Amino acid sequence: MLKTYFRLLGFAKPLSRYAIPYFIFAALHAVFNTFNYAMIIPILNAMFTADGGFIFTPIYTLPHIEINEAGFNTILSYIYTMFFGEEFVQMKFLAMLGGVTIAMNFFSNLFRYAAAMTVECLRVNTMCRIRNEMFSHVANMNVGYFSNQRKGDIMSKITQDVTVVRYCITNTLQVAFRDPLLIIGYMTLMIGISWQLSLFAIIFLPIVGLLIGRVVKRLRHPAKRGQERMADLVSVTEESLSGMKIVKGYNATNFIIDKFKKINADMSRLFISMARSQQLASPMSEFLGITAVAVILVFGGSLVEKGLVSGAGFIAFVAAFSQITRPLRSFIDQFANINQGVAAGERIFTLIDAENEVKDKEDAKEFEGLKDSIELRNVEFSYEDDRKIINGVNIKIKRGQTVALVGPSGGGKSTLSELIPRFYDVDSGEVLFDGISVKDYKQESLRAKMSIVSQETVLFNDSIEGNILMGRPTATHDEVVEASKIANAHGFIMESPEGYDTNIGDRGAKLSGGQRQRLSIARAVLKNPEILILDEATSALDTESEKLVQDALTNLLKGRTSVVIAHRLSTIYNADRIYVIDEGRIVEEGTHKELLDKGGLYAHLIEMQSFS
Ligand SMILES: Nc1ncnc2c1ncn2[C@@H]1O[C@H](COP(=O)(O)OP(=O)(O)OP(=O)(O)O)[C@@H](O)[C@H]1O
Ligand SMILES: [Mg+2]
Repeated sequence: MLKTYFRLLGFAKPLSRYAIPYFIFAALHAVFNTFNYAMIIPILNAMFTADGGFIFTPIYTLPHIEINEAGFNTILSYIYTMFFGEEFVQMKFLAMLGGVTIAMNFFSNLFRYAAAMTVECLRVNTMCRIRNEMFSHVANMNVGYFSNQRKGDIMSKITQDVTVVRYCITNTLQVAFRDPLLIIGYMTLMIGISWQLSLFAIIFLPIVGLLIGRVVKRLRHPAKRGQERMADLVSVTEESLSGMKIVKGYNATNFIIDKFKKINADMSRLFISMARSQQLASPMSEFLGITAVAVILVFGGSLVEKGLVSGAGFIAFVAAFSQITRPLRSFIDQFANINQGVAAGERIFTLIDAENEVKDKEDAKEFEGLKDSIELRNVEFSYEDDRKIINGVNIKIKRGQTVALVGPSGGGKSTLSELIPRFYDVDSGEVLFDGISVKDYKQESLRAKMSIVSQETVLFNDSIEGNILMGRPTATHDEVVEASKIANAHGFIMESPEGYDTNIGDRGAKLSGGQRQRLSIARAVLKNPEILILDEATSALDTESEKLVQDALTNLLKGRTSVVIAHRLSTIYNADRIYVIDEGRIVEEGTHKELLDKGGLYAHLIEMQSFS
């Protein structure tokens, strides 16, 4: 708990650069704020007593000041003498008091603002730092880490938990400095007016504080549930909006409307119960505050009667006392927030501390390029422990050759291809580049020589050029155009409204299927990789588009070492060697002709394709 807290605080760097100014501003705010309330005494006296209730003696230099009413009067006399000389006029005195009050208030609020801004800057910078750290850590995790159920969890940690944590860190400053300083300020004023009355209040105050704290506490629980329901609502909305075509196609509009309404109604109920406590909080604490004041009033009245406290002093005391509940309440509040923040912090750290399971070795080698061959030797692999997906596969790909993997859906072709760039580590067996295990190379150096064109085209909400540039960010515009021409994409890009600067929408939503494929081919061409892993898309394209993609692929494969998961006959024909994968095993291998003659699974698959 404490460890998490200090680790979170570690993100608030450099803490001293914020904490010291914050302390100064908060202290000045407390001082001026206290004087604000102290001003009540001379003002009341000046207004309601004939002689101004003020024993005026001209003072030109400030003597040693005590913190009590007399000391305060000395300061006021000094200011009066400075402005109006030695002659005391009640109206002039009142005007001066007004002026001083305005000045006090001005400074009090100025420093309050400065303190708040210091905290905000710290808060924003800290959040920024935490989010960056989380995202870069996550982005560096191994591919296997990103299972579907984890995606939502990661997103909620980066967005929501960080929001909760931000109060934890910065409220620390408020708990440590602002509220205590304000409480000290008010206390000083109160003790300065009457210690008996203050003693009474100090005993009485914790009771009030406790009661207010309980009201505040009741608020927290539904607030958290409300947030969770809100997240549900957002996810339903997001799902529905992005799947609108399917929803309409299945006439499922009412289904999703009902689903939405149900969550919405649930949330509304929660918000009403939240509002009940929330709206109760202010009236309740005011009521409790006034009750407290009334009790003080009775006790204080008796002191005034005995002449132990002046009337004006008493009123100032009550004013300060009614104010002190505010920092007190906030003090209690912030502590609760810190607790909540630490809980969120723990969730954040599970993300930051997650271990990358596919790590480079200490002495990992730089991959300089393929000299001889890539080899999969007795490879076995499973995603989860129980089910073997790849079961003893041997494949050899000579430099410059194209190897095709074919087979029924779910056989393990994509999985197999992802073992080559070491997206996952094999359970047993080896993946070798020139006879050296992938585990002995630096992952980055391997992937630098490879392009991976996956089954689902992966595009980002960016311009066309931005998406292609991912292949090689340092490429020039001309090179991008060149790559697009090879990928048969230049034509449609030029027809787009803003050419290469056209935004393609979320995941390339504004493009057709074939266009998306050609963009990802252009990206691979731009990278100009030595080794190519191509997982052909299974989606059927119309003949026109098919032809364009086909040609683009042929261009892409030229002169490279490639592993192609092929669904198109033409790609298969051109391969040097074909492996038929079924249920994680190689069931047949050979050239197109050899396999056809064999009349096995391959011949069967080809026959089915020819019919369609
Ligand atoms: N990330 C994953 N976690 C768990 N199981 C997975 C994962 N990805 C794939 N699988 C399972 O592994 C098996 C092989 O999947 P793979 O994607 O390699 O098949 P494929 O041969 O490429 O099929 P297709 O021709 O349809 O693309 C399937 O049974 C699939 O359910
Ligand atoms: Mg696949």
